[in-house]
Amino acid sequence: MSGVARRTVVAAGGAGLASAALAACGGTNAEGDGGTGGADGAAEAPLAKTGDIPVGGGKVLADRGIVITQPKAGEFKAFSSKCTHQGCAVSEVKDGVIVCPCHQSRFDMSDGSVTSGPATSSLPPEPIEVKGDEISFG
Ligand code: FES
Repeated sequence: MSGVARRTVVAAGGAGLASAALAACGGTNAEGDGGTGGADGAAEAPLAKTGDIPVGGGKVLADRGIVITQPKAGEFKAFSSKCTHQGCAVSEVKDGVIVCPCHQSRFDMSDGSVTSGPATSSLPPEPIEVKGDEISFG
């Protein structure tokens, strides 16, 4: 009789310890993987390839908040894509100017200056870095 009682106590204790160990491991892994992977990907992802930016034109990267232009072959410029008039996102680079669709302000693709209003301030420049054929935030 006393032998049976002892085995029952040991089995219950073992199951309790195993559950506690599993719960601790699961929590630690989930937090570590999520935080590290997300931060690295956002900071280091290139903005564009040099071949994506047409000479004498440009490309608006709305999700990154930037417009990249190539006024002359091999010369890349970048500006905030947020219009200085009322904050709309500029939509395209056409005929040498960056165009805001909201009230038709236009900005020079070489220096971001206003070529026609209603905006009165230039698009702020954004630092970029060209390495090989990749363009990234500088
Ligand atoms: S918000 Fe761009 S022209 Fe008005």
